[in-house]
Amino acid sequence: MLELRNVHKRFGGLHAVNDVSFKVATGSIKAVIGPNGAGKTTLFNLIAGNLPVSAGTIVFAGKAIQGKKTCQIARLGMARTFQNIKLFHGMTALECVMVGRHTRSRSGFFGGMLSLPYTWREERAIRDRSMALLEMLGIADLADAEATSLAFGQQRAVEMARALALEPKLLLLDEPAAGLNIYETSEVARLICAIRDMGITVLLVEHDMSLVMDISDEIVVLSFGSKLAEDTPANIQKNEAVIKIYLGEDETA
Ligand SMILES: Nc1ncnc2c1ncn2[C@@H]1O[C@H](COP(=O)(O)OP(=O)(O)OP(=O)(O)O)[C@@H](O)[C@H]1O
Ligand SMILES: [Mg+2]
Repeated sequence: MLELRNVHKRFGGLHAVNDVSFKVATGSIKAVIGPNGAGKTTLFNLIAGNLPVSAGTIVFAGKAIQGKKTCQIARLGMARTFQNIKLFHGMTALECVMVGRHTRSRSGFFGGMLSLPYTWREERAIRDRSMALLEMLGIADLADAEATSLAFGQQRAVEMARALALEPKLLLLDEPAAGLNIYETSEVARLICAIRDMGITVLLVEHDMSLVMDISDEIVVLSFGSKLAEDTPANIQKNEAVIKIYLGEDETA
């Protein structure tokens, strides 16, 4: 589904992503972990086209995508959520999800505003589909609430629904459990597995180790921009180099 080959990102003198290569198998859940500042979000920004790579190749569904715009990559079937939630002010939860869906639709957002007959039918279908996603995420009762006024966990759910509305082949989740309590986190774990069971490949960045170890098929560990390890959860937990960087992090905390 996704392959990174020798990907680099430099910010001036800082080598934020240093020669990273890995593959994400279709239908799998893969996690990227590593201490704060390891380059995880930067890596997502490179994959989704939010930042240009300094060097390297990124292949998504058989196409080289480095250098393409975010909207082009989205149309190829990649959706993402952000570490810092990005929802629109003044829109309801349902509207936020519908906007996600419009990226995919025939008439687009502005065609929809002209209310042509076929766009009107399409609008209806988008609304129904968006509602179904809110139901799947357990927040259908909040459809008409203003998205940015919702509780943190609920906003995360809206963001996930917005990403799913694109009907992606690959979903990138940047810290989906950050700031959530233990119950909300187990709900997110269940949801990510349900998304995978829908046939969507998932790549996630997450600090919650029990979540990562429970749901991932494979884990990539980044440290100072470089890939330190790539293995199954069981082997990552035994990996001396990985244990060392996490213990090192604790010592400085
Ligand atoms: N736009 C930018 N310009 C300059 N430096 C940046 C930029 N974005 C990120 N960095 C730097 O790149 C490094 C990697 O940051 P990144 O946000 O990718 O880390 P992360 O692994 O996602 O960390 P966290 O776990 O805290 O979210 C950091 O040193 C950060 O300060
Ligand atoms: Mg980050």
